[in-house]
Amino acid sequence: MKIAILGAMPEEIEPLLANLDAKKIDYANNEFYLAKFGAHELIIAYSKIGKVNSTLTATLMIEKFGAEKLIFTGVAGALKEGLKIGEILYATRLVQHDLDITAFGHPHGFVPGSPIFVDTDANLNEIAQRAARELGLNLKSGIIASGDQFVCDEARKAWIGAEFDASAVEMEGASVAQVCHALNVPFCVLRAISDEAGNKAEFDFDEFVVKSAKISANLALKMVELL
Ligand code: ADE
Repeated sequence: MKIAILGAMPEEIEPLLANLDAKKIDYANNEFYLAKFGAHELIIAYSKIGKVNSTLTATLMIEKFGAEKLIFTGVAGALKEGLKIGEILYATRLVQHDLDITAFGHPHGFVPGSPIFVDTDANLNEIAQRAARELGLNLKSGIIASGDQFVCDEARKAWIGAEFDASAVEMEGASVAQVCHALNVPFCVLRAISDEAGNKAEFDFDEFVVKSAKISANLALKMVELL
């Protein structure tokens, strides 16, 4: 099977590439890494940060490289008290917290023709849980909110958490979800916590991004073993 593993930043896929003998293909201002892993063919890429970049890369992984399933791996800011730096969750569903046509009476996150929330694939989430058990990881789950904004503000953090009942915030998952939903490709989103999205989150992010990204990437690779 052709499986895409997508991150947003180099740090989020480097732990994967370190374990694989991958061939690099440059296309559309992206780097795609192709590698065999057991019976599977992997397509690995980092999209660059944000919803537009991740939309492009996810679409190419599916439409140009033929990915049949997609695993997103990376880091996120925690919105809930119980989620600490270094912990990991999978998204049950994803929403764009910065999509706003409330001026027309619509709820936050909604535009006509698209659902507010996009659900992740139950089967992949089940495999993520099995993989986490094998690695001895305490895998949590929750709604993930995405937007083109690094959240490092207590008021914004509280608003996103309350408006969408979201557990974590990042900048790519919901756009990748829209792509996979539209193209009928099962997908899941793994995110290890790098910061708590409040004041000074940028300092925690810089300190923990590499370590947390590695936790998520290891889980993604373990999932591929089980697929
Ligand atoms: N990714 C990791 N931490 C984040 C934050 N606080 N806001 C947005 N994206 C993130």
